[in-house]
Amino acid sequence: MQQSEERFVLRNARHLAADYMMRSIREGDVVVDATMGNGKDTLFLCGLVGESGHVYAFDVQQEAVERTRERVAEAGYAARTTLLLAGHETMAQHVRGPVQAIMFNLGWLPGAEHAVTTKTDTTLAAVRAAAELIAPGGIVTVCVYPGHEEGERELKALRAFAAALDVRRFNVLHHCFVNASSQTPQMILIQKNKS
Ligand SMILES: C[S@@+](CC[C@H](N)C(=O)[O-])C[C@H]1O[C@@H](n2cnc3c(N)ncnc32)[C@H](O)[C@@H]1O
Repeated sequence: MQQSEERFVLRNARHLAADYMMRSIREGDVVVDATMGNGKDTLFLCGLVGESGHVYAFDVQQEAVERTRERVAEAGYAARTTLLLAGHETMAQHVRGPVQAIMFNLGWLPGAEHAVTTKTDTTLAAVRAAAELIAPGGIVTVCVYPGHEEGERELKALRAFAAALDVRRFNVLHHCFVNASSQTPQMILIQKNKS
């Protein structure tokens, strides 16, 4: 195995998710940003899939789609994206596989109305769909924010869902910072087994 240039630094749930994405995605892959928000993750994924890859991104807020559209256009990545004003729970209707990676960053749009946060029922339906959609060897990352009520509910439900996944089909890791506050963001990683 080749050594990476920088030494490992343990930072937060989002960095862990990004790290797994970097290790999993190759040029030409099809991937999904399940929660577009300000488009930072969409942009990051565009960089990883390159010119021959494709990023499908979802959000239920027009504002998020517009912010993301601007961000990817500025970077010259518009052609490698499909930005959908739709709930991630509908992803199976929009995305054609094989999908290498699907990234969820739950919660609300930074700098906007907190009322439009991800919700347990639709999050669960979407993560279930994502686990089916990914190709063998593909991954799903979910950053969860238990510092607010709905985030706490999402974490409980996701944890139960992930723990019940058939170990013959999936490997699941739950990252949490055990010496930090229980409100600290956590990350769940699901990988579909190759055979
Ligand atoms: C924490 S933000 C995502 C941050 C984003 N990945 C970024 O890089 O800026 C969570 C986003 O999920 C969106 N959201 C809420 N419910 C959703 C749903 N059912 N499907 C897709 N997105 C949803 C919110 O509108 C919000 O923009």
